Amino acid sequence: IHCSLLTTGARDRQMLRLLVLHGPNLNLLGTREPSVYGQMSLSDIDKSITRRSGELGIAVQTKQSNSEGELVTWIQNARGHFDGIIINPAAYTHTSIAIRDAIAAVALPTVEVHLSNIHQREEFRHHSFIAGVAIGQIAGFGPTGYLLALEALTVHLGAKRSSSRTRADVRKKPAASRR
Ligand code: DQA
Repeated sequence: IHCSLLTTGARDRQMLRLLVLHGPNLNLLGTREPSVYGQMSLSDIDKSITRRSGELGIAVQTKQSNSEGELVTWIQNARGHFDGIIINPAAYTHTSIAIRDAIAAVALPTVEVHLSNIHQREEFRHHSFIAGVAIGQIAGFGPTGYLLALEALTVHLGAKRSSSRTRADVRKKPAASRR
């Protein structure tokens, strides 16, 4: 599944652009172990992400892949096109040094999301290779986790952007016009 939902106006320089990546087996959401992952399909989750991003005034693109290499390539290609990444790496969370290295390489602020509370489940799900390169992790809130991640990343990037703008203004403005 390759789902492109980039909001119109995304090329607007001011608009934050976030890439939302879903890892393996998440294309089966709705029918896959609903007692663990819920009833909502991935396309419904993506629709709610797009709706919330509209409310937040940000542009979002969502993609899903069952392939580790494809996820690595999408992360690599995000540089210059996106301001941040939200990723549910699914089972690759617990195995993939390649995805971790790709996130570290592009150095884009990244939020890790899990539908289930991985820390409450089997031992092998307790370790995340991604957590060490993410600004934070949201786990256990079901599809709401993606919406919380949108909000968290928007606030994080907004704060970063306004502090760098303030620094640039202070540098550029003549002393008399400084407040
Ligand atoms: C998951 C948790 C992972 O352990 C699992 O392999 C998944 C989904 C989650 O969203 O809860 O596929 O990332």
